[in-house]
Amino acid sequence: MKKLIQGGTVVTAADTYQADVLIDGERVVAIGNDLDIAGAEVIDASGCYLFPGGIDPHTHLDMPFGGTVTADDFETGTRAAAFGGTTTVIDFCLTGKGQSLREAIEHWHGKAEGKAVIDYGFHLMIAEANDSVLQQLQHVVEEEGITSLKVFMAYKNVFQADDETLFKTLIRAKELGALVQVHAENGDVIDYLIKEALELGNTDPIYHAHTRPPVAEGEATGRAIALTALADSQLYVVHVSCEEAVKRIAEARERGLNVYGETCPQYLTLDISYLEKPDFEGAKYVWSPPLREKWNQEVLWSALKNGILQTVGSDQCSFNFDGQKDLGKGDFTKIPNGGPLIEDRFGILYSEGAHKGRISLNQFVDITSTKSAKLFGMFPKKGTIAVGSDADIVIFDPQVTRTISAQTHHMNVDYNPFEGMEVNGEVVSVLSRGNFVIRDRNYVGAAGSGRFIRRSKFQRP
Ligand code: URP
Ligand code: ZN
Ligand code: ZN
Repeated sequence: MKKLIQGGTVVTAADTYQADVLIDGERVVAIGNDLDIAGAEVIDASGCYLFPGGIDPHTHLDMPFGGTVTADDFETGTRAAAFGGTTTVIDFCLTGKGQSLREAIEHWHGKAEGKAVIDYGFHLMIAEANDSVLQQLQHVVEEEGITSLKVFMAYKNVFQADDETLFKTLIRAKELGALVQVHAENGDVIDYLIKEALELGNTDPIYHAHTRPPVAEGEATGRAIALTALADSQLYVVHVSCEEAVKRIAEARERGLNVYGETCPQYLTLDISYLEKPDFEGAKYVWSPPLREKWNQEVLWSALKNGILQTVGSDQCSFNFDGQKDLGKGDFTKIPNGGPLIEDRFGILYSEGAHKGRISLNQFVDITSTKSAKLFGMFPKKGTIAVGSDADIVIFDPQVTRTISAQTHHMNVDYNPFEGMEVNGEVVSVLSRGNFVIRDRNYVGAAGSGRFIRRSKFQRP
């Protein structure tokens, strides 16, 4: 069955123009004004923008972490993502030392299959870089279509890998055409500062931030960049939170290095003072890296505007306040790190970014969709509205103002870090490969309809 989306304004990373969009099956087949619409269902999008579906390059769904498991799985998480205008997520597949990569990937497929309501891909965590792992990576990249790898430079004794592991991964990634991602914080220094804080009896949530200072993020970012240059490889720094890291990435890019960066909505809108909320509420705002001094927000916006940072990920990693975040009462190190953002990433970027004029409308599309499609091997199938592309389309009403709240969100979690925030614009309908997932603000999707995306090798965008 054909569908014609009529009367909307198409916005891509490059253009903004009025046109109708004709969909046949899963693909866009025509864009224009006098289209042959015989037999097509007509969808009225007057007054609305038509955006390419959002691509969230950073999610943790159904992930064990911090002594518990994230509250959102692939069903609740991707449904909430769709409500918020996201049609593709790339989730982090964990691996353990000694575990075969294929086994780890199969395990992650098992979490998503039959559950995801939108399309998804995986990044693969590298826990160790021995000869066997480096050899298995060929299959991962070339056969499994997992073309991005992740190395944690923090979370000592949990996920943290050493510099040798990072360096070997960078070299192998260059050979295979994969993009290496880093969680860039100096885990050893943080571990020292944490022990010192606890010895002094400093156990409140705010000490999570004090023990992970900006210099620990800047140092690790600089180190990862230096190793990338030495390996002549490619690097993507996830969840950049502060000026110290932005400066390193800016310098690297000025030198022509193949270095990219992502930030997240919380670093653009919230600040370190939230960790001091009374009654342990500060735990809701525990992320790694932590929220920073407020002035960093304008540094991050400016880095997005100027192309120093290319994407905004949600870093979706949701834990309930009751029963999960409160595991850390009396010891901030036991607060599970992370928060629920998969639903609000797209809307906050539109409202705080494009609506407020910090970035253009086309940059909004680039940052929330197109750049991720390009960096992670999905363009032009994903990340744009063009003839031949998947019909992943968001019908978005810019006239509406709404208030973010846990009462109305769709994530499986008992709080929203942006509670009470007024945002301009609202997702009306969402199509994933030509099928409605959200129609007139109602969920009409189906668990299991999301497809795993085998992604292409890394190409410099
Ligand atoms: O606090 C965070 N960021 N939690 C999710 C795991 C990670 O480091 O990305
Ligand atoms: Zn991280
Ligand atoms: Zn993360």
